[in-house]
Order: sequence, then structure tokens, then C-alpha cells
Amino acid sequence: MSTGLGFVHQWRNPLIAFRSSGNYSLPILPSGRGRGLIVVRPNCYKVKALKSLPNSDTVEAADDSYGRKEVISVNSRLYHYILDNVREPKILRQLREETSTMRGSQMQVSPDQAQLLAMLVQILGAEKCIEVGVYTGYSSLSVALVLPEGGQLVACERDAKSLEVAQRYYDSAGVSEKVIVKHGLAADTLKSMIQNGEGSSYDFAFVDADKKMYQDYFELLLQLVRVGGVIVMDNVLWHGRVADPLVNDSKTVSIRNFNTNLMEDDRVSISMVPIGDGMTICRKR
Ligand SMILES: C[S@@+](CC[C@H](N)C(=O)[O-])C[C@H]1O[C@@H](n2cnc3c(N)ncnc32)[C@H](O)[C@@H]1O
Repeated sequence: MSTGLGFVHQWRNPLIAFRSSGNYSLPILPSGRGRGLIVVRPNCYKVKALKSLPNSDTVEAADDSYGRKEVISVNSRLYHYILDNVREPKILRQLREETSTMRGSQMQVSPDQAQLLAMLVQILGAEKCIEVGVYTGYSSLSVALVLPEGGQLVACERDAKSLEVAQRYYDSAGVSEKVIVKHGLAADTLKSMIQNGEGSSYDFAFVDADKKMYQDYFELLLQLVRVGGVIVMDNVLWHGRVADPLVNDSKTVSIRNFNTNLMEDDRVSISMVPIGDGMTICRKR
């Protein structure tokens, strides 16, 4: 519903959501509630027409209290434009291109995400970082490239074959001294770091593995990161599934629950950013 005339329904019953169907939205009940039955109570919904904006790539909140603020909805034309405006170092481009021929290439973060991670590390002046989920190394290399002399990135990954590619690129980029590769289950690595007395000594952490473990990784990393340090969680929008009450597979539920818990978690300040598949930046208080 990003272009042309569409309708946005405002609902009062949180159990009922809407899915766009062409220019109209149909009310849909979450699975498990009133199976197959669609209950429509017209008086409960306020219907408002979106103004038609030529070439508009924006959406508005259905709730008028957001002041009809239009926000960007990234389509493929705009996404290409964003990619054209990323400063991607040559070595990262080479790694991305090599990875694109491999199984699982869709797992690597996008260049705009990698650039944001590197920017956060630089803003923080981070020297000690952790990554959970390395794959072939795209996000870890973007962080390692901006670490200062003597900086360290603990890179946790369980797959040895992916790590071979990552290691080759750390070597070519001249950052292997900065990257401490931990081959194994990330939770075990993080627990042993805590046991080794490394608590509260890290500046920055990035989580991009095993969605069902998000809360566990977050709890472990909160112990390892210092006050003022940052933990970035990837895939928090999970291809949009988190916002669809009809989707209740275990990974979606895990991320949705993580997001819900985070809203109440006063140990951190948070900002959910709709970049890539969604990232939440958490700053430890
Ligand atoms: C989404 S990919 C990471 C992509 C990477 N951040 C990048 O930008 O290229 C997730 C990785 O986490 C690894 N992984 C999954 N579960 C893990 C676990 N329990 N411990 C360590 N690594 C794990 C997978 O083998 C996979 O390589």
C-alpha cells in the first residue's frame, strides 16, 4: 500500500489485524482464535483514505495521533539507491561477491547494515567487541576494519567451513591480529568468557545467529558489555513476520517475545531500526 489510493483501518481490538489485499484491507483473526471465522464489527473501525502520492514510497501510521507522518517504505528501486550510497571497502565487496556464490549467502548482513555497525563501533570508540554468528565474515570484517590498533573482536561461529572463508579475508585485510575466532557454540564461548572474569569489559556486541537463543545471548552479553556499551540484535523484524499474528512458528515467536521483553527491560535504552531485516540497538544503562 505504498502508492496510489489505499485504505488504512484503525482497529480497537488488538486481537484483529489486517492484511493488505490490493487497495483494500481484510480483517483476519489470528490463528487459533475463532478458527476460520472472521468477525467484523464495523463500528469499531475507522477507515481513512491515504492520499494518492505520485511515486510515493511512504506509509503512514493508521493511528491519527502520529500526525499523518509519512515514513519511507523501502521498495527495490529505493533499496538500490541506498546500496549505491554505501561506502563499501573493496575487501568487503570481494567477500560479499565470493559469498554470493555460496549456500546461505542471504544470511550475510547487507552493506548498509555493515556500514551502520562500523559507524556505531567508531562512535563508541570501541576497542573490545563480540560477534555471535560470523558465517563467512562480512559483518565481522566490517567491524574489524574500523577497530583501532590493539582492538579486539571475539568472533563466535560453529561452522568451520564458513570460518575458513572468514579467516582468509581477515588475513588479506590485515586484521587477523584483531580477530579472535572462537569455533563452537556461541553460548558456551560467552559463558566461558564470563567465567574467565571478562564481565563488563566489552564495548560492543552484535548478535546474528540462532534466533531461538536471542534472549539467552542477550542475557550473557549484558554481563560482558560495560555500562554505556552497545548490543545490536539483528533480524528483529524477521521478514515482517513478527507483526503478523497469523505467523507463530518457533523462530518468529522467539524474536517476537524477545522484542516484547525488551520493551520492558529497563537495563537498556533501545532503538529499533528498520534497516536490513531490522536491527535493535541496545545501550546498557
Ligand atoms: C546469519 S549468519 C551470520 C551472518 C554474518 N553476521 C554475516 O554478516 O555474514 C548466522 C551464523 O550463525 C552460525 N550459528 C548458528 N547457531 C550458532 C551457535 N549456536 N553458535 C555459533 N554459531 C552459530 C551459523 O553457522 C551461521 O554461520
